[in-house]
Amino acid sequence: MHHLQCILHAQRCLGWGPLASVSWLLSRTCRAHSNFSGTARPSPEGRQEDGARKDFSSRLATGPTFQHFLRSASAPQEKPASEDVEDPPPYLTVDELLGRQRKVYLETYGCQMNVNDTEIAWSILQKSGYLRTSNLQEADVILLVTCSIREKAEQTIWNRLHQLKALKTKRLRSRGPLKIGILGCMAERLKEEILNREKMVDILAGPDAYRDLPRLLTVAESGQQAANVLLSLDETYADVMPVQTSPSATSAFVSIMRGCDNMCSYCIVPFTRGRERSRPVASILEEVRKLSEQGLKEVTLLGQNVNSYRDNSEIQFNNAVSTNLSRGFSTNYKTKQGGLRFAHLLDQVSRIDPEMRIRFTSPHPKDFPDEVLQLIHERDNICKQIHLPAQSGSSRVLEAMRRGYSREAYVELIHHIRESIPGVSLSSDFIAGFCGETEEDHLQTVSLLREVQYNMGFLFAYSMRQKTRAYHRLKDDVLEEVKLRRLEELITVFREEATKANNTSVGCTQLVLVEGLSKRSATELCGRNDGNLKVIFPDVEMEDATDSGLRVRAQPGDYVLVKITSASSQTLRGHVLCRTTLKDSSAHCSPE
Ligand code: 5AD
Ligand code: SF4
Repeated sequence: MHHLQCILHAQRCLGWGPLASVSWLLSRTCRAHSNFSGTARPSPEGRQEDGARKDFSSRLATGPTFQHFLRSASAPQEKPASEDVEDPPPYLTVDELLGRQRKVYLETYGCQMNVNDTEIAWSILQKSGYLRTSNLQEADVILLVTCSIREKAEQTIWNRLHQLKALKTKRLRSRGPLKIGILGCMAERLKEEILNREKMVDILAGPDAYRDLPRLLTVAESGQQAANVLLSLDETYADVMPVQTSPSATSAFVSIMRGCDNMCSYCIVPFTRGRERSRPVASILEEVRKLSEQGLKEVTLLGQNVNSYRDNSEIQFNNAVSTNLSRGFSTNYKTKQGGLRFAHLLDQVSRIDPEMRIRFTSPHPKDFPDEVLQLIHERDNICKQIHLPAQSGSSRVLEAMRRGYSREAYVELIHHIRESIPGVSLSSDFIAGFCGETEEDHLQTVSLLREVQYNMGFLFAYSMRQKTRAYHRLKDDVLEEVKLRRLEELITVFREEATKANNTSVGCTQLVLVEGLSKRSATELCGRNDGNLKVIFPDVEMEDATDSGLRVRAQPGDYVLVKITSASSQTLRGHVLCRTTLKDSSAHCSPE
C-alpha cells in the first residue's frame, strides 16, 4: 500500500527537482524498501538525483506488481513476518496511528507562514490523540518547523539539533524513545541529507505533508526513519482549522494561499513550498466567521503571494477575464486567467465583522489592480497598510533578480498607491549584495529608501541558495564584508527615514487595538495602530465613548483612541483619550 500511496500521490504532486515528487519511508534494515526509494544510501544530493533519474526505468521494472497491491489490499492488518521480507506495515490501522497521549513539543523558525503551519501540524496531531507540551523536558516528540530562506536560518536549526541530541541520549529508557522531526522548508530542501547527516532525526515532513504526520510518527515509533516531502498542486489544508493556542489573543492569521510561481532568481521558496494554489473562498470565510464569533479583533490573511490569490475551485469561477497587473509589471509565467481574485475575497472577508481589522501579508507588487486599492481606501476595517517588497532600487539588479519591474515602475506604483489611499503606511524588503551588485546599484537602493520613506523595513544580506536561478547562472561575487557594510548602510538610512515618516503622526489621534501590557513596563499598555506600528501608552482610567459616564481601563481586544506625543523608527508613544469602536473612530483619526 505504501507503494500505491507513492504512485497516487505522485500523480497529483509536482516538484522542480526529480526527487521532490517521491514520498518514501527509509528503513535501514529493509532492502526491498530502500530499493524502491533509492534513497537509503548516503550520497551527495546531486549524484543521488542523477542516479534516481537513470535507474528510474529499471526500478519500474523491478518495482511492485499489481499482485503486490492485491496482496496488500486483501490483508490490510498483517504485519510482515520478518523484517527483510517486505516493506514496513503497508496499512496502518486507526489504532496504530494514535498518539496515545504522547507529548509533542513544537518549535517554530522563520516566517509567519511557519507559525501558521505549526498550528496546522498541531491540529492534525491533536486529532490523532497527541498532547501538546510547552516543556521540552517532558516531550516524547520534538518537532522543529524550519526555514531555509538564508544559510543562517538553516545553521540555527543544525545548532539546535546538536543540543537536542544530548536530550535524546540522556533520556531514561523507561520513558520510551524520544522522537525528533524536521518539518517545513528545510525538510523539503535537504530531504534525506538531513537523515544521513543527523542520524538522530526520526521524521521529515515537507510543507505539504503535515496530514501524514501521524503515520510518519507511527513508523518512527517502530525504530525506522520516515519521510514525506511530496509537494502538492492542491493542498491548502482548507479543512484543517488551526488551533488558537492563546485564549487571550486579539488577532489571528488565516492562510489563504500557499506556494509561489514567481521564480525570482535568488529565492528558494518555489522549491521548498511548491506551486501557487489558493484555498476556496467559502472555507476562508467560514474560518474568519468563527474567529469573529470567538471575539478576535484582527485577522491577517496570509500567503507567500497573498494578493495573487485566485480561487479556481469551481467551474463557474473560471470566466475568461484576464488578470490586471500593476502598471509596468510583468510575470515570469504565462498569464493566468479566471478565478475569484483577491479583491473579491478582501471584500467578502471585510464584510463579516465591521469591528474586525483586516490585514494581509505578504503581497507581490505586481498584483495591485485598482479594485484592490479602491477597496482598501473605502473600507474602514481594512488597514491602510501595504507591504511592497522592492528588493533593490537598481533596475539592473531587479532585472538580474527577475522581479518583473523596473525602479521606475515600482516608484510609479508607490505614487499611485499614495494617491489612491491617502495616509497609507508602507513597508518593504530589501536584499543587500545580490550577485553583480555594484556600489552604484547599492546607492540606487539607498536613494529609493530616501525617496519612499517607508514606515517599516526588513533588510537582509544576500545568501546564495542552491537550486535557484542565481545559483546556476550568476556569481555570488560581492564580498561578505561588503554585503554586511551595505546592509548596515541600508539599515541606517531606513531608520532615519522611518523616524521622519513616523514623526508625522505626532499630534495625531490614532485608533489603537490594545494587545496587553508593554514588555518593558507594568504601568504601560501596548497596541498597534492602523499601520501596524507599535503604540505604547500609560495604563490609566479613561472614558468609555460608547457608554457615556462609564470610566474604564483598557483591556486586550479594546479599541482606544491615543494622542501620539513622540515617535522613533519602530514605536509611537502617546496618551490614551477614550475607549471606542472601530466604526465610531473613523471620524476621529486625523491630525489635529
Ligand atoms: N538571501 C537573502 N534574502 C532573501 N530573501 C529571499 N531570498 C533571499 C536570499 N537568498 C528575502 C527577500 C524576501 C524575504 C522574505 O526574504 O527580501 O522578500
Ligand atoms: Fe522560510 Fe520562506 Fe519557508 Fe517561510 S516560506 S519558512 S521564510 S523559506
